[in-house]
Amino acid sequence: MLKKQLFSPGPTPVPERVLLAMAGPVMHHRDPAYEELFQEVREGLQYVFQTKSEVLVFASSGTGAMEGAVCNTLSRGDEVLVVRGGKFGERWGEICEAYGVSFTPIDVPWGKAVDPLVIEKALDTQPAIKAVFVQASETSTGAMHPIKDIADIVKKRDGTILVVDAISALGVSDLPMDQWGLDVVISGSQKAFMLPPGLSFVALSAKAWGFVEKSTLPKFYFNFKEEVASVQKNQSQFTPAISLVVGLREALRMFKEEGLENVFKRHEKLARATREAATALGLELLAPESPSNALTAIKAPEGVDGKKLKKNFEDKFGLIIAGGQSQLKGKIIRIAHIGYFQPLDIIQAVSALELVLKDMGYPVELGKGVKAAEEILVS
Ligand SMILES: Cc1ncc(COP(=O)(O)O)c(C=O)c1O
Repeated sequence: MLKKQLFSPGPTPVPERVLLAMAGPVMHHRDPAYEELFQEVREGLQYVFQTKSEVLVFASSGTGAMEGAVCNTLSRGDEVLVVRGGKFGERWGEICEAYGVSFTPIDVPWGKAVDPLVIEKALDTQPAIKAVFVQASETSTGAMHPIKDIADIVKKRDGTILVVDAISALGVSDLPMDQWGLDVVISGSQKAFMLPPGLSFVALSAKAWGFVEKSTLPKFYFNFKEEVASVQKNQSQFTPAISLVVGLREALRMFKEEGLENVFKRHEKLARATREAATALGLELLAPESPSNALTAIKAPEGVDGKKLKKNFEDKFGLIIAGGQSQLKGKIIRIAHIGYFQPLDIIQAVSALELVLKDMGYPVELGKGVKAAEEILVS
């Protein structure tokens, strides 16, 4: 028997009470009961986004809201900056390309964080730049970009907005949208929101809404102006993913009960324990200087096939972790601790790491990683 468990940075485990909430009969979305529910969801999302702006909810994966952020704020021929430090940074470029938006890439070695001064220099030399696109947590490498520092640079420029893909950062690390002056913040349901995939979220600052007014790129489903008008009536323009929205209300209640500060502290501790455990086992982290608290990317040691390592986690212990993408295929494993995770989940993953590595012939002192993790988790 193998109990399958998600240790991937999306999809992530869904709490039992969220699953149960979603198991009820499907209500009608034009019913007052749905509007009451959506009112609570709106407030809960504003709490997690730390914003007074409206948070739009779409029935799509996170990429849908990313696409919406491009086609609602820009016009054909606009120039933008794209931070490319991994697969999801590349995605910003691909979306811009699809819409005829010309972008200057700021390429960052995978696993590193972008240097904000490079962004500042680019904005100084290219004053026509309309937007800076970046990830908060680059899930393909486990690195965190310095969003506050970038925001401090961008907010001084009236003609430029900062668009943050916070799909694997929101609800993990403190990212106060209003306080830091972030213009567009995006997330998705299958990450820290502890839901199945299928919902994307996006919030815009007043400055970004000004860009929406001038945007001429084509849009239909992801029409932010139409959508916000519906949201303000506790509705959505089209049929919402009703059951997921019901689950979202329950997940947002969990955020409120734990308190955002405690949610951040929990993620920080679990992430630190995972990193310390890997290091204690003599393994190298891919992003040691600026690690995301959503996941830990660990380099496969010399002579160990990363793909096999990932597969053995699942085949031997039922733990579904993630491997490397694109240029990192076979070279890293990614262990997630985003959303519905608690201390002993980490012990389980670290123990599996020790056992799998030992089985693959890598010299491991059993219990060394577990001990290092426990030293963090005990305090
Ligand atoms: C940082 C980041 N951006 C974008 C995406 C794409 O989101 P989706 O697969 O929900 O479209 C992901 C998903 O893993 C992500 O982690």
